[in-house]
Amino acid sequence: MIDFILSENVFNKDNIPWNGNRFLIGNGYFGIRGTLEEYTKENMCAVNMAGIYDRAGDAWRETVNAPNPLYTYVKVNGKKYALPENEPVSHEQTLDFENGLHSRKTVWQTENGKITVKCERFASMSRRHLIAMRYTFSSDFECDAEIITGIDGDVWDINGPHFVKLNSGSDYAVNYITGITGEKNISVTARDSVKLNFDAECSVDIGEKTVCRHIVFKAEPQKEYSIEKIAEITTSEDDFEPKGDITEITYQELKAEHIAEWARIWDISKITIDGDDEAMYALNYSIYHLNCIAPREMKSKSIAARGLSGQVYKGAVFWDTEMFMIDYYIHTEPEIAKTLLQYRIDTLNGARKKAKEYGLKGAYYAWESQEGGYEGCSDYNVTDVFTKRPMRTHFRDKQYHVSAAIVYGLMKYINATGDYDILNEGAIEMVIECSEFYRSLLIKKADKPYYEIHDVVGPDEYHERVNNNAYTNRMAKFVFDTALELIEKYPSDQYDGLKTMLKDSSENIFIRKPNDSGIIEQFDGYFKLEDVSVDEVRSRLIDPKEYWGGAYGVAADTQVIKQADVVAMLSMFKDDYTSEIMAKNLEYYEPRTEHGSSLSACMYSLLSCYTKNTEIAYPMFMKSAKADLVKGGKEWAGLVYIGGTHPAAAGGAWIVAAKGFAGITEDDGKLICKPNLPEKWNGMNFKIMCQNKLYAVQIIGGNASVTEL
Ligand code: BGC
Repeated sequence: MIDFILSENVFNKDNIPWNGNRFLIGNGYFGIRGTLEEYTKENMCAVNMAGIYDRAGDAWRETVNAPNPLYTYVKVNGKKYALPENEPVSHEQTLDFENGLHSRKTVWQTENGKITVKCERFASMSRRHLIAMRYTFSSDFECDAEIITGIDGDVWDINGPHFVKLNSGSDYAVNYITGITGEKNISVTARDSVKLNFDAECSVDIGEKTVCRHIVFKAEPQKEYSIEKIAEITTSEDDFEPKGDITEITYQELKAEHIAEWARIWDISKITIDGDDEAMYALNYSIYHLNCIAPREMKSKSIAARGLSGQVYKGAVFWDTEMFMIDYYIHTEPEIAKTLLQYRIDTLNGARKKAKEYGLKGAYYAWESQEGGYEGCSDYNVTDVFTKRPMRTHFRDKQYHVSAAIVYGLMKYINATGDYDILNEGAIEMVIECSEFYRSLLIKKADKPYYEIHDVVGPDEYHERVNNNAYTNRMAKFVFDTALELIEKYPSDQYDGLKTMLKDSSENIFIRKPNDSGIIEQFDGYFKLEDVSVDEVRSRLIDPKEYWGGAYGVAADTQVIKQADVVAMLSMFKDDYTSEIMAKNLEYYEPRTEHGSSLSACMYSLLSCYTKNTEIAYPMFMKSAKADLVKGGKEWAGLVYIGGTHPAAAGGAWIVAAKGFAGITEDDGKLICKPNLPEKWNGMNFKIMCQNKLYAVQIIGGNASVTEL
């Protein structure tokens, strides 16, 4: 078995933002960026809170970062030693993602000798309000040492500041800072309690934005001086209470519980791959991230597109959740999938409001959904690199496919769990309203026998305001069919009239057929656009941060697309098409796809699995699984920072592994496994939930066994 350890053994200042993402720890309630203890907002430090939003002035609404209770640094003979300012002699940063433990060890050369700082910390998986840290100092000479440790209320914000008021204090045993948000008066409190294993003079310093303990002691050479901190984060919006008193819980106890909880999670979610350690490592690293952000114990919460790695994309929920992430939860801890769907059911009102705003009917879900379904997406979502002006984009008003993604996610959940109860808990209404929304988009030209949908942005965002996007039209049909199916299963007088209309919509919506060469045109007129390579389009950029789409983007008048669009549709509706058509479209669209979104590769990989095109399937799977392991992902859309973790790519990697390579499908409640492993894989082992039953899947070469546990 390989070690689930990620480490970096040199200090590189340029890696601070990236390390913040890849060394992330989290427990669903918050995510703690993989920054170092002495870091401040300058180094993008964040304890990012799930589902807590605020607006500062006219800026974009976004999630809130809590006061940081990990803030700690050392002084030796009166001089501060901290990264990135003081170049170290050696430095190691490690994430043990089997156990959810972050650690670092840094050695500095001082005038009198070497000093070493070690720190281990975790976001408690067993008591989700808690964070624990053990910080150890040692030197190879006698010195006057001081550990300064406290809570930093001067948090990193992209569109802040969100705390209009900070209340801080100390009763010595516990220090605290409470931040109060400006828009809704939400309180976010960090408290900390510290235990020492040595004698020291301790004092507390309550500053304007920080509360710090100063632990002063004479350090003898080669002796380790450790402090153990237990911190607690709470908010006025919490769904569940903290467990235990932070002054009483010990680090060891909490660590043991935390590791046991991770072991429970891994027991069901680990995937073993025989013959390819690199793939096994990357896939399980992706699964680690999905587990760090799962809203366990929470009610009606979903997952942001950048997980809990910060405020990028406003901490908002996109179609990413239902299209790319939910499958993993459905098949490992279905109650998490239900929580994600409950969020959509409970935000139906927000979707109704948005539909009305555009003169449409039913439920038009937010492209960037925040609490209550509030639309976080602005009409000007990208800043032009040249003029520095906000650019008019159409993600908010034209990306109609989002509502269909939610219905698609719901049906994946129902089909795999058999939980029809969710329909009576608001889901049927949600589906009906989504179908009404798509009906209100249908238009009919006098000389055409079918319905069309005009003026849309499909998954490929580089081409805005197109007509009859193949993906969007097919998804709309899926919603009509689903609504019909549910009405037939659960008849109710109120839906009688709707039935005929839905039937008509489903039968008459324009679904584009493959042309003579077998290719499905992405939207009306796509084939007439300039047919150039992705590299050629890239070479036309004047600035590397330039946005490729929008009215004047380099890709807009070409056939180069941002991400899987027709390919996504084919992989989702594979039973509607022959293998030959799927293969031809894959071959056509792949060279024209920039894969500018981390959501793209997994869709290409999945379709390649379905068409037995191993050449693309494996590299595209690895691209998806390694989205957070490889440096150089897209960090800018125009002048807007978009870096962070990529949970949709992580979820996509899981989908490919389970449904593509392992070939898991379900027939009438029966789990079927028809493997199609990459060449170097000798086998796979994993567990999977289906219809409330847990199965062990074992694949050896081309043979598979599925055993109910
Ligand atoms: C993609 C969207 C995606 C969003 C959040 C964008 O770059 O084009 O499809 O939903 O990122 O991940």
